[in-house]
Amino acid sequence: MSSFKRNSTLKALLLGGVVLGCASAAQAQPTAEVLHYWTSGGEAKAVKALKEDFEANGGKWVDAPVAGGGGDAQNAVLRSRVLSGDAPAAVQIKGPNIRNWAEAGALADLDAIGKEEGWDDILPPLLQDIVKFDGHYVAVPVNIHRVDWIWANPEVLAKVGADVPTTWAEFNETAEKLKAAGITPLAHGGQPWQDATIFETVVLGIGGADFFNKAFVDRDLDTLRSDTMKKVFDQMRIIRGFVDDDFSGRDWNLATAMVMNGKAGMQIMGDWAKGEFLAAGKKPGVDFVCAPTPSEGGYILNSDSFAMFDVKGDDNKSGQALLAKLILGEKFQETFNVYKGSIPARMGVAKAKFDDCAIKSMNDLEAASSKGTLVGSAAHEISTAGAVRGAIMDVVTEHFNSDMSSDDAVNKLAEAIELAL
Ligand code: BGC
Repeated sequence: MSSFKRNSTLKALLLGGVVLGCASAAQAQPTAEVLHYWTSGGEAKAVKALKEDFEANGGKWVDAPVAGGGGDAQNAVLRSRVLSGDAPAAVQIKGPNIRNWAEAGALADLDAIGKEEGWDDILPPLLQDIVKFDGHYVAVPVNIHRVDWIWANPEVLAKVGADVPTTWAEFNETAEKLKAAGITPLAHGGQPWQDATIFETVVLGIGGADFFNKAFVDRDLDTLRSDTMKKVFDQMRIIRGFVDDDFSGRDWNLATAMVMNGKAGMQIMGDWAKGEFLAAGKKPGVDFVCAPTPSEGGYILNSDSFAMFDVKGDDNKSGQALLAKLILGEKFQETFNVYKGSIPARMGVAKAKFDDCAIKSMNDLEAASSKGTLVGSAAHEISTAGAVRGAIMDVVTEHFNSDMSSDDAVNKLAEAIELAL
């Protein structure tokens, strides 16, 4: 049975705020246990801003962080919590995962608060698609992250007379020069989601947006086995030669620190990396520079959201309503996203506090969306999740850590995706 029907108490609370003549609801302190994986420097600053806003509005925040970039560790915790009947009130999840939990009847209906706050008018349709299930709001989007970025240390690039590369050939040339100068060209953490992050930027760059969607959304086997996909794996093999010997298992934020400290020239990572530079007091355009990974005007979108799980207790229900409302507040959207390195989920937020990388993300998103070159991240669970994403990560990581040929890699990828369906 759908949670929309079961959740009449929550609906009542959300419809009328928290005081509908129900004494216990009026007295209960809005409480939310928040499950998230924002534990790095920039991430922690951003989530602290949410906690402080929640507390300033009378809420009691119960922090439940699970360390581990990309959220794979958190996914496991969430599954076991829900299975044991102990779901947290608010959970940072995305894309098809939101739909899957909604389909399982695990999420609360947020339509009433969405109506009260005018979400249909302030959220771009593309985010509405992600956070609605069957036409009903079941999650609140927090931000838009762009995945296809290169973060570079300009001083380090200057040592070899290079600028940030604009084609993959230039990327390889610059990386070779850095390597020859004894500098690690690419700061990378060898964890499956980080390998997949680089991989999807190469898929977009070499194949283009239609190819990306045919591979990851349509899971078209001919596309997965195509010569273009072989070229993608060829480039991954070249990239493997640009990482240092200790890359295996390294956390993404430690890779960002290598660029910051001049130990490496570049990192390919979503703009949560910018949150790290900023948290360390680094100035965009001065201490670090950003540029999209080479592609024909592409944009890989990732968006974080909080889904509200179907929990008991008036304190929890009023906590969920309060949190949902605050997340899309105009001022909060500005504060949070400046810390996080992302751009606002809601439209109409003032741009003054956002740096050039963020403004570029906003402009490129608009351009890509009208040109049809906007794609949803596969590595970050927007266009794929679960077993298919797992299959992509397995093959990409295995290829990256072996001498597997590109021919074998495309066949393995197609087989793994076929089996995962
Ligand atoms: C999330 C970001 C997070 C990053 C590193 C991404 O999948 O969308 O919010 O900062 O992983 O953990």
